[in-house]
Amino acid sequence: MNGESQRARHVAIIMDGNGRWAKRKHLPRAMGHRQGVEAVRKLVRACDGLGLDCLTLYAFSSENWKRPEDEVDDLMDLMRKFIKSDLPEFIANKVRLHIIGDWRGLAPDIVAMLEDALERTAGGTTTLAVALNYGSQGEIVRAARQAAAGGEITEESLARHLDTADLPPLDLLIRTSGEVRLSNFLLWQAAYAEMLFVDTLWPDFTPDHLQQALDDFSGRERRFGGR
Ligand code: FPP
Repeated sequence: MNGESQRARHVAIIMDGNGRWAKRKHLPRAMGHRQGVEAVRKLVRACDGLGLDCLTLYAFSSENWKRPEDEVDDLMDLMRKFIKSDLPEFIANKVRLHIIGDWRGLAPDIVAMLEDALERTAGGTTTLAVALNYGSQGEIVRAARQAAAGGEITEESLARHLDTADLPPLDLLIRTSGEVRLSNFLLWQAAYAEMLFVDTLWPDFTPDHLQQALDDFSGRERRFGGR
């Protein structure tokens, strides 16, 4: 970019720290996740004003099934409630829902809700991509199998079969809560993304924090391997 300021079109977030947020406030973990949904809601409302074309959120990883059953149930219930309550707003605000991950492996009622939401938001202009039952290594294996079935595996043919194939290239990946790792999220897509690790716990992450992250991004020089 030769020092010019640049705009992020696609931001992805590893929303971490719900449990620690709840613990600090002596609340049950479930309250942390509930506040986490509030943070999601505020951010989705802010996307258009922040100039984003796509926001991708890591809501449930393929490894999250290892959590205690009641926590998994809580997260699934939050997902049901979130889709049900916010779908009319998505439609009104032209938010297009997209799901990445092996989401058809979720409970049948959630799959049906998501199919309906995908169909009804298909005309939207800002994309909210939610990673559900998502693991990047699994996604790459699925894509490689499909690319191989269609002929030669190349970087382009594999990328065309990733769950993110119709999303803009990833510009910025943010992880909250001070942890510095990717946890099997968007490994392929992050090849040239900028990364930002912030200490804020997810329920405390506001649109102002995202604006700060975008300001930080706009000043970075991206060389994509060149110089
Ligand atoms: C990490 O916090 C967060 C998750 C595993 C799930 C993220 C889910 C939400 C924000 C709510 C559901 C989302 C939607 C879109 C409805 P953690 O529990 O690992 O926190 P800890 O590391 O502090 O314990």
